[in-house]
Amino acid sequence: MKKQRIGILTAGGDCPGLNSTIRAIVKTAREKYNMETIGFMHGYQGILTGEYRELTSSRVSGILTKGGTILGTSREKPFSDEGIKAGHPEKIKQVYDDLELDCLLTLGGNGTQKTAHKLSVQQDMSVIGLPKTIDNDIYGTEICFGFYSAVDIATEAIDRIHTTAHSHNRIMVVEIMGHHTGWLALYSGVAGGGDVILIPEIPYDVDVIAKSIEKRSQAGKEFSIVAVAEGALSLEEAALSKKEFKEKRSGETSIGYRIAKEIEVATGLESRLTVLGYVQRGGSPSPQDRILSTKMGAFAVDMVKNKEYGRMVAMRNGKIVSLDLEEVAGKIRYVPQDDPILKAGRNIGTCFGD
Ligand code: F6P
Repeated sequence: MKKQRIGILTAGGDCPGLNSTIRAIVKTAREKYNMETIGFMHGYQGILTGEYRELTSSRVSGILTKGGTILGTSREKPFSDEGIKAGHPEKIKQVYDDLELDCLLTLGGNGTQKTAHKLSVQQDMSVIGLPKTIDNDIYGTEICFGFYSAVDIATEAIDRIHTTAHSHNRIMVVEIMGHHTGWLALYSGVAGGGDVILIPEIPYDVDVIAKSIEKRSQAGKEFSIVAVAEGALSLEEAALSKKEFKEKRSGETSIGYRIAKEIEVATGLESRLTVLGYVQRGGSPSPQDRILSTKMGAFAVDMVKNKEYGRMVAMRNGKIVSLDLEEVAGKIRYVPQDDPILKAGRNIGTCFGD
């Protein structure tokens, strides 16, 4: 009898936890269910270029603690205008059939899961998505693997920034990843004792920030820490159209530089910026991410066994479950205004720019 065969790919921004997820998938598939597993290189691109390799238990031995992804990744978009014109969706289906795959597991963020859903519906492929992103903004799941590790990294960085801020009595702005949502800035900002936390979900008023910093200064606190998500925006920018906003931002290096300048002008206090950038996606996964990714990877293979396709693995009320990709595709999970951590931050006097 033909063994079930699983294809695996990692797509979008890399993060700690990808390899621990691959490991859990391969070990569960091979050791619990005697299935076959192959890995495509560089996300969806590897299917198109025919770059794949058999993933055996020995090949995934020792990768639990490794950052990044042994498969490589890309932001290949098979359903872009160019991709459709080049027949990429059909090509992917052809390779899927030629390799006699029973299922394709897609480890990725919003874009990856949107593509997975289209392959499921338009190309009649059996797919299962696993939620990966340091941004933690995939709809339908409370947590994505990669997020915990990024929170640890950003928090540790903010702790270090604290000591130099205190020594120099400076306003230290720390720019944190999170293009559309502020989850990473919120969690690491609160964990790191940020005095001001700016997230895309709450457009900021620089006068409010200045007043908050001046109040600290009057209370004898001559330094402040400002955690800002790279997608944060001012009230004025929030009022712009998408086109106007894009034009305005096109000439800017990064939001952090602008905010540091605005605060320095508004308060007269010396400000400095640190952009954490890709450090937040590097290194070994935290124990929490190793546990989360092991649970999600193993759960995904149980779903393959039960032929529960067209779905994404998720965490809901602390339990690993799955939901239809239809519910996930094309949506983003924003920080709600009544988020408990946001409320706790306000209770302890953190300024959110509003
Ligand atoms: O989606 C994760 C992420 O790290 C975002 O936080 C960031 O804005 C983006 O990827 C950077 O994309 P790239 O790796 O393509 O530069």
